[in-house]
Amino acid sequence: MTDQLEQLREQGLQNIADSGDLQSLDATRVALLGKKGVITARLKTLGELLPEERKVAGAAINNVKQALSQALDARKAQLEHESVAAQLAEESVDVTLPGRGEVPGAMHPITLTRRRIEALFVRNGFEVVEGPEIEDDYHNFEALNVPPDHPARAMQDTFYLDAASLLLRTHTSPVQIRTMELRQPPIRVIAPGRVYRCDSDRTHSPMFHQVEALYVARRVSFAELRAELQAFLEAFFETDLKLRFRPSYFPFTEPSAEVDIDGRSLGTGAGWMEVLGCGMVHPSVLEAAGVDSLEFTGYALGMGIERLAMLRYGVTDLRQFYNNDLRMLAQFV
Ligand code: DAH
Repeated sequence: MTDQLEQLREQGLQNIADSGDLQSLDATRVALLGKKGVITARLKTLGELLPEERKVAGAAINNVKQALSQALDARKAQLEHESVAAQLAEESVDVTLPGRGEVPGAMHPITLTRRRIEALFVRNGFEVVEGPEIEDDYHNFEALNVPPDHPARAMQDTFYLDAASLLLRTHTSPVQIRTMELRQPPIRVIAPGRVYRCDSDRTHSPMFHQVEALYVARRVSFAELRAELQAFLEAFFETDLKLRFRPSYFPFTEPSAEVDIDGRSLGTGAGWMEVLGCGMVHPSVLEAAGVDSLEFTGYALGMGIERLAMLRYGVTDLRQFYNNDLRMLAQFV
């Protein structure tokens, strides 16, 4: 009897030690001390014994039961501790790992250039206005002194829309008309935005950006236009510039000029570089938009944002602005 008990104890302790996790430990506990466990079975046999034997045997069994119970508690505490430690190890963060890093975003060079142009004109009292990219023939051409069969229409390859007389504006000049239709002089505005022409090569893109400037008031002169442009371009390029106003033709201005910058003053080498068109607003244009051409005069100018950006940043292929190549764009952070 005592030998058997001793064996039971050893075996029980061994099973407890062998239980590798909390689940199997619980199974071991049930097998030993549960209602149908071996110890319980032993206790049930006590009834068959004589009273004096029963007392000794009962004490012995209880002794084993207590030993096993203690061993179970100890093993349970140990396994719990191990599982917490394992979980902590698994969830630990290696703070010495280098971070993944964030790539900072940045303004597109065309946006930077547009904002720069806007800021310089606003500083001189101009207000920023906008017009629609889908225009009608009247505002894009006719009111600008370009009647339907006028040869100047061939200067710009227009994208026409199916709907009657609608088109993608070929320049920002229609915003001149829309502005004068809405208000009377003095008017001092710039109109930046997208324009469209059926044209594509190293220096032309079917969509590009222009900024229009319009100043209409009493006795506005060409001299003011020259002064404004000299000041603007020198501020834009941050250097003294030699400019040339070359007589030109635009239907909506008279006289008209194209402005060239001496490449030597820009540091791009010899040669004149055309940067914009300008002139005194044609009286017919003022009248078409409801402004009295006897009382008011005005100047207007239009320039390509891409062109100014190319000169400022030394970009030689216009299409680089639209490829969305981060190696190119990241240089403008
Ligand atoms: N609209 C002309 C173009 O796209 C540019 C231009 C020339 C605008 C002379 C003007 C101007 O306002 O006076 O080629």
